[in-house]
Amino acid sequence: MSTAAAPVRQLDPHTVGELREAADKLLAEFGTSATSPELLAHVAQVAGEFSPALRHHCRPVDTADGLFVLRGLDVDDDAVGPTPTSWATAGDSGAVYDIALLLLATAMGKPIAWEGQQDGRFVHNIVPSPGHETEQTGASSSVLLSPHTEDAFHPGRAHLLMLGCMRNHDNIATTAASIRRTRLADADIDLLTRPVLPILPDDAYEAAQEYADEAPPAVPALFATKDGMTLRFDPAYTPLDDADAAYRGAYGRLSDELARVSIAVSLSPDEVLVVDNDLVVHGRVPFSARYDGTDRWLKRASVRVPGRRTRPPAEAAEHGYGQAALEAHAS
Ligand SMILES: [Fe+2]
Repeated sequence: MSTAAAPVRQLDPHTVGELREAADKLLAEFGTSATSPELLAHVAQVAGEFSPALRHHCRPVDTADGLFVLRGLDVDDDAVGPTPTSWATAGDSGAVYDIALLLLATAMGKPIAWEGQQDGRFVHNIVPSPGHETEQTGASSSVLLSPHTEDAFHPGRAHLLMLGCMRNHDNIATTAASIRRTRLADADIDLLTRPVLPILPDDAYEAAQEYADEAPPAVPALFATKDGMTLRFDPAYTPLDDADAAYRGAYGRLSDELARVSIAVSLSPDEVLVVDNDLVVHGRVPFSARYDGTDRWLKRASVRVPGRRTRPPAEAAEHGYGQAALEAHAS
């Protein structure tokens, strides 16, 4: 694990006020952060009118770290209410922050959601849930959530992943590792850029599991672009035993390198972590959930950025295990 810190983009009070005012106004108008086409259209309109300063903070990830922390939002620990015990009961808890995150997401690209996940909401609640402690999903707690590309199984996955912190009393770290910080032998890169193994859908997509028998497409773990390497990596859902020893060795060395360059980002309630999902794998350290309303609570948004050339063109033909990404708006 590296001791390097995540780059920070500090919002000034005026810019925070602009964002907060816009989110308050939208929430007052709609009364909920449950996403409807009308709400999404209004969000797009308001985000389109952001000041140059706020837009500048929403510019693309611009370092080899592949991520940044947007700092300066303020979350009142009392006002936000207790941490929900599952996404299903979260409802409109912290709704104004759902909308703030959606506004920021819309300034960065096109927010997406999944029909089969968290009722198709565009902003997810990430909270530890009783009975899910040891899963490899966002509802887990007592296990290490191993480093992964978000929604790695799907060709429509996000380009950017946003994690807004509502509460993190115990300073539980999100881990992040950039492929651009790793050092790999050319022979390993050669193997890992070949489509050898599939990445299967995770436990959060129960319906997609049924699709898993239909010729899962083999995908490359690494992809060379003119700007450098990108990755698509989720060892927990990659059937590594199906590959030969040489490939397994290269994959293991990639895992080791990602562990070496991994940084720990302990988010505070005034921060949003923005991760480039093509450059960075993210995870979480284990922790003990209390289920007393004070547990760690994050809001998650996923964003696609039109026109990026960070992935192999062959991905477009993948079936995505029958899962459809919902896009916020067409343009
Ligand atoms: Fe994740």
